Amino acid sequence: MGRGRVLLALLPLLGLACPGAPWELGAGWQCSFSASCECDFRPDLPGLECDLALNLVGQHLVRQLVVKGVREFVLSHAPVKPLVMSFHGWTGTGKTYVSSLLIRYLFRAGLRSPYVHQFSPVVHFPHAEHIEQYKNDLKNWIHGNLTRCGRSLFLFDEMDKMHPGLIDVIIPFLGPSWVVYGTNYRKAIFIFISNAGGEQINQITLDLWRIRKDREEIILQDLEASILEAVFENPRNGFWKSGIIEQHLIDLLVPFLPLKQHHVKQCVANELASQGLQAQPDVIQAVSESIPYFPEEEKVFSSTGCKMVASRIPFFL
Ligand SMILES: Nc1ncnc2c1ncn2[C@@H]1O[C@H](COP(=O)(O)OP(=O)(O)OP(=O)(O)O)[C@@H](O)[C@H]1O
Ligand SMILES: [Mg+2]
Repeated sequence: MGRGRVLLALLPLLGLACPGAPWELGAGWQCSFSASCECDFRPDLPGLECDLALNLVGQHLVRQLVVKGVREFVLSHAPVKPLVMSFHGWTGTGKTYVSSLLIRYLFRAGLRSPYVHQFSPVVHFPHAEHIEQYKNDLKNWIHGNLTRCGRSLFLFDEMDKMHPGLIDVIIPFLGPSWVVYGTNYRKAIFIFISNAGGEQINQITLDLWRIRKDREEIILQDLEASILEAVFENPRNGFWKSGIIEQHLIDLLVPFLPLKQHHVKQCVANELASQGLQAQPDVIQAVSESIPYFPEEEKVFSSTGCKMVASRIPFFL
């Protein structure tokens, strides 16, 4: 582990905060290090790494995969293909949270950036009978926005709720060809989020817990094949029989592990701190005990991850 990484690992223990975003020091400094400050793209990799180390609880794999993958992609002057990430896991394990952090540390205006595009099937593609129209619109939308700026990010949340077949329309944009429709799109980032594969991740993590394998020793290879099979074979999700899986277009498959009670306690402490409140041990204990855990007999993992933490806190203050 390098010195920088040791320091990052120590930050939470020392109660330190991450340094400010580098563009606060002036865009020149930032752009000389990444040579990628196009449009609103202002990657702050140290900030991202620091925030993940400080605030992301119980997801060592996510931290490793995302930091390494994003770093390699951002520092490359001419990426060989767009960066395609797919987040999988049970509810409340941090998928939306990590995607928000990524956007915040990659684009100056964060979620408000005109180069960040979020899609939710329920909002944008609600009617199965309009799928051909949606395909056309989605292809044109991505093409138009990549023509405007290659450094754009497209986030597809709730992939489980997307009509199968629709997402394959973006396949031409995800591969390593030079140009599509006259646009160089290799600098784009695509993020897919879904609960698909979550049950499999939970079961494998539970099995490994039962044989006393250290959670931190879980590697991607323990989970990858099961997640891919689950999303590809399940007709009730957007990746069903998808060419995106078949053609191996996902660069980073990111599994979110189920969270244990001590992780929930950390989430409570983080939430209290973000509200400017004292980390009272009795409140932390009570909130973490008020949340359901599974399986029924052993009660190892939180059924709702850290999702209910913020709404539960007021009941115990
Ligand atoms: N691993 C984590 N580390 C720190 N905080 C977390 C973590 N997981 C969840 N949280 C907290 O819980 C909230 C809800 O999590 P989030 O929205 O990211 O869940 P999700 O995985 O997207 O769930 P869903 O599948 O239901 O959309 C976050 O805003 C964050 O405050
Ligand atoms: Mg979410």
